[in-house]
Amino acid sequence: MTKCQCFSGHSRNCLLIAYLCQDYNFPETKTSVRRDECGDVAAVGGRTSVRWISLNKFYRELRNHKFYGLYEFFNPVLMITDPELLKHILVKDFEHFVDRRRFGDQEGSIMTEMLTNKFGEEWKDLRAVMTPTFSSGKMRSMFHLICEKADNLVSFSLKNAVNNRPVDMKDMFGRFTMDTIASCAFGIECNSLSDSKPVFADKAEQFFNFHGLKALKMIFMIVLPKLYNFLGFKVDDPQIEFFTKLSKENIELREKGERRGDFLDLLLEAKASENDIRPGKKVFGEQTLVAQSVLFLVAGYDTTASALAFSVYNIARHPQYQHQLRQELQELVKEHGSINYQGIMEAKYLDAVLMETLRLYPPGTVGERMCTKQYKIPGTDLILNPGNLIQFPLWSIHHDPHYWPEPEEFKPDRFLPQNRGSIISFTHMPFGMGPRNCIAMRFALMEAKVALAQLILAAEVKLAPGHEKLEFQDSPFLMRPKGGVMLLLTPLKKE
Ligand code: HEM
Repeated sequence: MTKCQCFSGHSRNCLLIAYLCQDYNFPETKTSVRRDECGDVAAVGGRTSVRWISLNKFYRELRNHKFYGLYEFFNPVLMITDPELLKHILVKDFEHFVDRRRFGDQEGSIMTEMLTNKFGEEWKDLRAVMTPTFSSGKMRSMFHLICEKADNLVSFSLKNAVNNRPVDMKDMFGRFTMDTIASCAFGIECNSLSDSKPVFADKAEQFFNFHGLKALKMIFMIVLPKLYNFLGFKVDDPQIEFFTKLSKENIELREKGERRGDFLDLLLEAKASENDIRPGKKVFGEQTLVAQSVLFLVAGYDTTASALAFSVYNIARHPQYQHQLRQELQELVKEHGSINYQGIMEAKYLDAVLMETLRLYPPGTVGERMCTKQYKIPGTDLILNPGNLIQFPLWSIHHDPHYWPEPEEFKPDRFLPQNRGSIISFTHMPFGMGPRNCIAMRFALMEAKVALAQLILAAEVKLAPGHEKLEFQDSPFLMRPKGGVMLLLTPLKKE
């Protein structure tokens, strides 16, 4: 029997954990993989604390090993902590780690068809078709639409802030990101920034709210997918069905000839010409288009809204940084006449504020790959076989004092050009890394920068009394503020 280290309060899980530890599936190795460490079963469900904090206890103790084994219930996972090794796995030796685990694999389900859940060649082909959606040309052409939505965000937020009323900025940013992605990608105007009950944003919010039964169901789906399917549970929840219906209607309209030059048109064109471009290869199944539309609507909503909410929280807590940011933006407006594409791309402090926020609060806290081709970990005897799971604890690496002095402090200057040279590669990965990183990184950053810039130029932000401390939802995957981010907004006079 291997030694099992349990944390206080989790002793009831010890027997189960000890049992699981006997059957550690990675091959015998003379290297530093620790076989006596086990995943904290309670932490997986986020029952006693958020998952990244539980995982960090292992990280702090074992980071020097470069990698170590954990259990996620029945699944052994190899946690990779060493930035050099991550560079190999995520970039240099990517061919051995193309996929993530099967998630929500159910025949006929929309989730199964999403890019995030595609495997091997199918993923490569679909990713190649979708990548041009985020080219610099497309970014430029979307810029004015994003500015328009950011103007709506500012007026709606200020309207809600009258009489010194606290405003939930997570809610405001969620409405903004939903309106932006729906408009930029599909030409849908969902008016979340004017409706008192924004249907689209509410549905997306419900989708990401992993509390109680929903969280348990999700864990069941991941840990015992075959039993989950056998018992007839559906992978696509009602919110996915809502977005699916919407996307189908939208695609039907386009197929009748309507064109907007957006993401959907691009995919429709790729579908129409797929046989000419890749004879004999079929990228588009019956549901492929609908699934990617739904994916963009939901993926485009939460991560960027959380990043924005965490950013304004940080600058509300640190008036000196808020002042510095506003000064940079005012100078840009003076130089360019208004907030334009070039100005946003040049704004160094704006970039630093977002990067530092994403270091402290990365919306995705753990990255993952599945071994797809046998792999010997460089410098060791450890062999990984197809199907073995590896993870990288993003949050822990972002908070490691060896890489980030005073890691809990918000210090945007770390990301200014003159200081960037001292950042160690693969220690800042809010969008993941390598060919399977976030496909929409540039879009998300541009959208967040425009929104933050417009808001900070228009209003001073302060923490609302009683809401000084940030709390997090119990979510197995995503870092999301609990109870929103409540701020007071004071309109500034236009210069
Ligand atoms: C601040 C905002 C965002 C953050 C922090 C973020 C973060 C991430 C991360 C960490 C991954 C996994 C990368 C990896 O495994 O290496 C990912 C993947 C992905 N993201 Fe984002 N994301 C953001 C915004 C968006 C937006 C706006 C969209 C869509 C419009 C989007 C679409 C996707 C897709 C489709 C994937 C899967 C890529 C693949 O499997 O090939 N993300 N994102």
